[in-house]
Amino acid sequence: MVTTRTPLIAGNWKMNLDHLQAIAFVQKLAWSLKDAKHDFSSVEAVVFPPATDLRSVQTLLDADKLELGLGAQDLSSHDSGAYTGEISGAFLRALDVQYVLVGHSERRTLHSEGDDVVASKVAAAHRHGLVPMICVGETAADLEEHGPSAVPVAQLRASLTEVPADAEIVVAYEPVWAIGSGQAATPEQAQQVCAALREALVEIAGPERAATTRVLYGGSVKSNNIASFLREPDVDGALVGGASLDVAEFTSIVRFRSHVGV
Ligand code: 13P
Repeated sequence: MVTTRTPLIAGNWKMNLDHLQAIAFVQKLAWSLKDAKHDFSSVEAVVFPPATDLRSVQTLLDADKLELGLGAQDLSSHDSGAYTGEISGAFLRALDVQYVLVGHSERRTLHSEGDDVVASKVAAAHRHGLVPMICVGETAADLEEHGPSAVPVAQLRASLTEVPADAEIVVAYEPVWAIGSGQAATPEQAQQVCAALREALVEIAGPERAATTRVLYGGSVKSNNIASFLREPDVDGALVGGASLDVAEFTSIVRFRSHVGV
């Protein structure tokens, strides 16, 4: 099937790089992509810095007219008020943030964010004109007990209960066992689950929305395996952790089309 989905390569920096390091990194990345004559209209590249870096990175992107997209790693489910330490989607939008990660396994596990919290954060992102990048994925134990797609599909369904069916979203399938482990899923495994997620989207949001929604794979993506994932018909990009912190490596991932055999 011919797809009109522009591939999306997202770099989740997690809790790495302060605002000064972020400025230096984004400048180098922009130069590196420019040197490689990267066509941003054919592959979208987005960075997700820590919240304290967003203003600096946004100022740099704006001043130098860089075509990199900007995402945040989290947002509050509330809009404003007495929520110490929280960051409103409205504040992110005011910084021209386009995307926000919701439901990352590190937040589900380390911050006890369950399906209800994820759904209300997806709704908050939608309210403020941010595109939620909804992360779903099974643990090794889930895989053993329920097979490959059941848990990610259930998480996706639960995350969409508070938004209209036509809300714009990006889905990121990140098997928990593949995150930071060096043990990526196989392209066939990624395709199987991404296809199941798209089928669920057909039921939830209709065939048109399902056909235009990007479904990414994440978990130990590197420059040497990115092309194999992007060859799969239902994998529309990657959510990259560790390898997004290396300019040459991330450039090569964004430039996956220049790899042999793609
Ligand atoms: P790694 O690419 O380091 O495995 O991390 C994946 C991830 O969690 C991105 O959100």
